[in-house]
Amino acid sequence: MNNLALTQAQRIVLLVSGTVKGVNLYPADHPAILAPLNELGGLLESVLAGNPDLHLGIIDGVLFVEQHLFFTPSAAVEELTNILLGKGVDVLLFKRGVSADELKRFIEIVAQRQLRGGQLAEAIAAASIDHIAVELTDRPSDEDGAADDGDSVQATYRQAVNVVSHLFKDVESGRIPQLDNLAEVVDRIASLAIKDPLTLVGLAMIKDYDNYTFYHSVNVGVLSMALAVVAGLGGEDLRSVGMAGFLHDVGKTRIEKAILNKPGRLSSDEFERMKMHAEDGARIIGEMMGSNHRVAQAVLGHHIRFNRTGYPAWARDLPFDLFCEIVAVADCYDAITTLRVYKSPLNPKAALEKLRELSGTHLNGDLVEKFATMMGKYPVGTLVRLDSNEIAVVCRPDQLAGEQPAVKIVMDAAGRLLDKPISRNLATENSAVGRTIVAVVDPLTKSIDVSRYLD
Ligand SMILES: [Fe+2]
Ligand SMILES: [Fe+2]
Repeated sequence: MNNLALTQAQRIVLLVSGTVKGVNLYPADHPAILAPLNELGGLLESVLAGNPDLHLGIIDGVLFVEQHLFFTPSAAVEELTNILLGKGVDVLLFKRGVSADELKRFIEIVAQRQLRGGQLAEAIAAASIDHIAVELTDRPSDEDGAADDGDSVQATYRQAVNVVSHLFKDVESGRIPQLDNLAEVVDRIASLAIKDPLTLVGLAMIKDYDNYTFYHSVNVGVLSMALAVVAGLGGEDLRSVGMAGFLHDVGKTRIEKAILNKPGRLSSDEFERMKMHAEDGARIIGEMMGSNHRVAQAVLGHHIRFNRTGYPAWARDLPFDLFCEIVAVADCYDAITTLRVYKSPLNPKAALEKLRELSGTHLNGDLVEKFATMMGKYPVGTLVRLDSNEIAVVCRPDQLAGEQPAVKIVMDAAGRLLDKPISRNLATENSAVGRTIVAVVDPLTKSIDVSRYLD
């Protein structure tokens, strides 16, 4: 390629990496995404005016853009390297004529965590993105999320998102799905939950704005199972709670997309339609599972509220049990910690306070207390400012329910994102130099995707 300046190559890396990260935090039409996307479009247009295409990829583990190799990684270089390696992509090829709209669709697809290897290439082709191609790494890619790091917690999470999204799509197109794959995922998560419920809490900080229903379903399944273990359930009960959590919103597959994805508040007619998802879900589960009443019942009642003022109104006098109340707590927590079109997310600490406000009315107060105790004073995934002015992500609560969790410092005192986060256990640091937490910080104001630091 002629005349690609190093500064242009660096800028392209920064813009691609930043927008992929950004669409997990903001809607793709948000100015925080559109501005860098437009800049990227303009930059590529000028570079491609003199060249037919531009290669960005990885060679021997080192990121390159055309002739420029990035041996000393900045945060953006490291992030983009990890994204490409994680997706089994060797090269991204941008061709002359690539439009800003294609770039937007492409970035949205790349940001979908479950899409890797061949599935990623297929999604790009299916979205009619003609001016961007991916060349995949030769080794067989980890399509089902389980081949490389089969036992890792993250791989189980990816597998769960995959299974849930396929299952929902089956239901949407009128098929009655087999539950074998979901049962396998539930088994794997059950063993993780029994070993240590807290490993699951970090996972549930993974959010994906564009695939809200799938990620929300998985998060509710995962959190329900963690809470079920803390509440003393095991065996078949634990698995049933998991099933109910993963499937609690499956009835939304019956709701018109215009209502489901409507930006802003629903009209009262639309809200009435939306409420039908609880009973639709219970019916779908009846078709899928036959006789497992407790799962269907938990799904039917996940909005019924502890004081029975919720919906469906006709079901308020039915007997709902602990399974239903566990799913309701997990559902509420994940919903209020996730960014939606019409509301900003609460940080985990504020979300626990909100759950406590709803104790005894919407939610079972005893379960809320168990949930809050499990999460600790600074729940996993909370972004905090330390007295050193550094910014850190809480990775593990303080075992003694105090204020000194294990953290990863991700930003230095001057506000620079660190290339490599620094792990610190605030409880065991030398008290003379030890850092303490001074405040909770909103990840959106720092553009930090906390889930990247939780593994
Ligand atoms: Fe729901
Ligand atoms: Fe839900």
